[in-house]
Amino acid sequence: MKRILITGGAGFIGSAVVRHIIQNTADSVVVVDKLTYAGNLASLAPVADDLRFAFEQVDICDRDALKRIFATYQPDAVMHLAAESHVDRSIDGPAVFIETNIVGTYTLLESAREFWAGLSGDKKAQFRFHHISTDEVYGDLHSTDDYFTETTPYAPSSPYSASKASSDHLVRAWQRTYGLPALVTNCSNNYGPYHFPEKLIPLIILNAVAGKALPVYGNGQQIRDWLYVEDHARALYLVATQGKPGETYNIGGHNERKNLDVVTTICDLLEELVPAKPAGVNHYRDLITYVADRPGHDLRYAIDASKIERELGWTPQETFESGIRKTVEWYLANETWWKQVQDGSYQGERLGLQG
Ligand SMILES: NC(=O)c1ccc[n+]([C@@H]2O[C@H](COP(=O)([O-])OP(=O)(O)OC[C@H]3O[C@@H](n4cnc5c(N)ncnc54)[C@H](O)[C@@H]3O)[C@@H](O)[C@H]2O)c1
Repeated sequence: MKRILITGGAGFIGSAVVRHIIQNTADSVVVVDKLTYAGNLASLAPVADDLRFAFEQVDICDRDALKRIFATYQPDAVMHLAAESHVDRSIDGPAVFIETNIVGTYTLLESAREFWAGLSGDKKAQFRFHHISTDEVYGDLHSTDDYFTETTPYAPSSPYSASKASSDHLVRAWQRTYGLPALVTNCSNNYGPYHFPEKLIPLIILNAVAGKALPVYGNGQQIRDWLYVEDHARALYLVATQGKPGETYNIGGHNERKNLDVVTTICDLLEELVPAKPAGVNHYRDLITYVADRPGHDLRYAIDASKIERELGWTPQETFESGIRKTVEWYLANETWWKQVQDGSYQGERLGLQG
């Protein structure tokens, strides 16, 4: 039985990891989360009463608070998911991305290193620092038969991906220089329950049922590899507990789709699941509206996830078709969750157009 410190555990992927660990393992969890606009305690409600769950509202840039947390909880592993995560927001205001993703990761690394250096025996040998990152650090792919592997050179395009690339380099340097037993994972686009509605899939579902325009950036031909968040949570736990320090693992869903196809798939599912449409809407597809493309928009991401499959035995359980159906059904059944999010500061407006 391990105790795992999870930063960003109130976010989309972090909360899926916490729910996975509490509901499927004997391990305990302490969540460290600042609760920015993206953090939501309601996403942890299913496990909040479990005695193996603890929550600390703390900024990962706060070294003193982190020192107290390491001393109090004596974690066996850190899973680092806290980040500013939305590309469009990074275009409007990169400063907080530099602060949290780079300075915050540095601060967490130093706190973990100090704690780890003070350990001995098995506890020290078994300690792990797992950094969760994105395939966006690799830039984009222009040929349809090319895939990101663990050795693809970094070429980030946006302030977000540049800040994540920086944090990946810091983690690898702390492993190489100080021997901190660190691992890095780079994953593709996640989707599924509890996803903040500024991201493509929940935005499209919620706009469609409200009879609002469905914004498609540029011509909608950008390709993303979609990973169901619960498949990702299983993969992350496997890496944190069984991965080899110093290694990188790419995690993808083997589900490449054009953005426009994602939007039309959701429209077609809603025709089936919610045939009674808002006033004035004949077909959900009629709501599709092409809007200005994102500056610097990457064309295609695709992950080669064969290493994690070969070495740790992980494969995704959901196809895009099964995962998107579950996701649409979840949003239809969990209006209370997303209404609370929408009542906050984000009202579904377009972000990331500069100027
Ligand atoms: N969502 C994706 O598709 C995706 C894809 C690849 C990689 N990632 C990476 O996975 C991780 C989790 O992504 P997500 O989609 O769950 O993000 P998210 O935005 O939903 O959640 C981020 C969480 O971090 C917390 N946080 C932000 N700044 C903090 C700070 N300074 N101190 C403490 N907590 C802070 C927020 O409150 C929030 O709970 C991120 O590192 C992201 O870069 C995400």
